[in-house]
Amino acid sequence: MKVTWELADGQRIAADVAAGETLKDAALAANVPGVKGDCGGFLSCATCHVVVAPDWVTAAGSAEDTEDDMLDMTEAVREAGSRLSCQIVMSDVLDGIVLRVPQ
Ligand code: FES
Repeated sequence: MKVTWELADGQRIAADVAAGETLKDAALAANVPGVKGDCGGFLSCATCHVVVAPDWVTAAGSAEDTEDDMLDMTEAVREAGSRLSCQIVMSDVLDGIVLRVPQ
C-alpha cells in the first residue's frame, strides 16, 4: 500500500507500506525529513506530527485523548488534519494516503 509525504519545499516522497506498520515507522524507513519519532511511538514527544490531507482525514480517524493533548504541544502549529503519525496504523482504507510534514 502506498503513502505519500509532502514536504514544505514541495518535494513528495512516496513509499510502499505494509499493513500494521505505523506511519511514523514508515516515515523513518523512507527517510522523510521532519518526522523524527524521538520517543519511539509512546506518545511523549510529538516529533512525528503530520497533517493528514483533507480527503484522508475521515479514513485516518480521530486522535484519542492523549494524542489530542500531545497535539497541543507540537513544534509546528496544530491544524485541522494534525495527527501524530505513530498513532496511525496502515490498513487497506489508508492505501494512497497523503500526509503533509509541517515546517
Ligand atoms: Fe513520539 Fe509519536 S513518536 S509521539
